[in-house]
Amino acid sequence: MDRILIRGGRPLNGTITISGAKNSALKLMAASLLSDAPLTLSRVPALADVRFLGQLLARLGVSVEDEGAGRLRLHARDLAEPEAPYELVRKMRASFNVLGPLIAREGRAKVSLPGGCAIGARPVNLHLMALEALGAEIELSEGYVIARAPRGLAGARIVFPMGSVGATEHAMLAAVLAKGETVLEHCAREPEIADLADCLNAMGARVSGAGTDTITIEGVDRLHEAEWTVAPDRVETGTYAIAAAAAGGRVRLDGAEPDHNHALWDVLRRAGAEITAGAGHVEIARSGPIRAVDIQTEPFPGFPTDLQAQFMALMTLADGASVIRETIFENRFMHAPELTRLGARIDVRGNEAIVRGPVRLKGAPVMATDLRASVSLVIAGLAAEGETSVSRIYHLDRGFERLEEKLAAGGADIERRPEESA
Ligand code: EPZ
Repeated sequence: MDRILIRGGRPLNGTITISGAKNSALKLMAASLLSDAPLTLSRVPALADVRFLGQLLARLGVSVEDEGAGRLRLHARDLAEPEAPYELVRKMRASFNVLGPLIAREGRAKVSLPGGCAIGARPVNLHLMALEALGAEIELSEGYVIARAPRGLAGARIVFPMGSVGATEHAMLAAVLAKGETVLEHCAREPEIADLADCLNAMGARVSGAGTDTITIEGVDRLHEAEWTVAPDRVETGTYAIAAAAAGGRVRLDGAEPDHNHALWDVLRRAGAEITAGAGHVEIARSGPIRAVDIQTEPFPGFPTDLQAQFMALMTLADGASVIRETIFENRFMHAPELTRLGARIDVRGNEAIVRGPVRLKGAPVMATDLRASVSLVIAGLAAEGETSVSRIYHLDRGFERLEEKLAAGGADIERRPEESA
């Protein structure tokens, strides 16, 4: 298993190109199951999660062709047995999203329940509620969801009791081929949802309102061949922006969509960074001191939970105390003890962390615990004096494409080494 070695204390200066969004790409890939015609996606990030889902889709009968340069051609002409086994769903929760499309297309499916994960229990009750409302009969047996819709799915009005990105997307995926109109209310509004809706529409679906809290879907009989470019990754964009603020210097992020990160730009400015956004790019600079800012994670357009760990790393360097409140997942502070190993002063009480800065971070060996937590250690390592080695970086490889290459392009002293020689 590899490690990432960082010799910190150097400012970042340069240009980093933003990849396609992992959390869009995975749902767009699942959408390919809905059609017997090919779906070609561009700007698909080369990530472990994308590979895992590709393996699952191949097993379900989809021809998955990597055309290179981020182009992926998915063709679900004839499907195999609609069954997603535990070994493949366990590796990556987003695999669960194949359930809705399989029921919609095949009238039946057997998909493993994803189980909990490091950041929280992450139930799927809202996904199942939506699929049942569309007419699926669902039974839970031995860790699997066994679903049948012998007469096909039918449009319905579904009111979500709380905003859920995954459940909104899943309901949308299933409703596209349902008979009649589906109205989804109290939907999540994350940009990945609009990206999925736009891709489905390019395939011939009739989805409107994605990105607002009410989405309407007119069912269609079938979808057609389409090409779609995955939206830029707002979490990757935010991560490198926070890294630039932490390390100091000036970094330009090319291929980004600045409109997807307003909540972050606002807090970064308050923390002392300069942000200049233009069409398809954003520039972050910081030379003065970092100021403490309180944040609370919220559904879009609020401050994203997927940037909370990274922001905590920045706040360890800030002048004063900041309060970080996590409201989306119940166990998303695992980076706090690892940041403490680098010298941070953080008290976690329930869903609040109080970060007292400024400290001079010092390099140390640390361990990645989940995807976003691990990149917060990389950010702290960039700002720390001396050498930080981050182990268990398979977490990073799930969600950050060519991380060390991109940061090195921005001036960081960072490399990947095999564990044994590190
Ligand atoms: C998506 O997860 C993302 N994953 C997450 O990114 C992200 O943190 C999250 O949205 C919030 O933005 C993907 O897109 C693959 P939710 P998702 O359903 O869809 C509760 C990353 O690091 N809930 O909006 O699973 C749930 O427990 C990952 O890239 C239910 O109670 O998030 C949570 O508290 C981590 N029942 C809240 O809703 C349900 O059926 C929001 O979760 C579903 C969710």
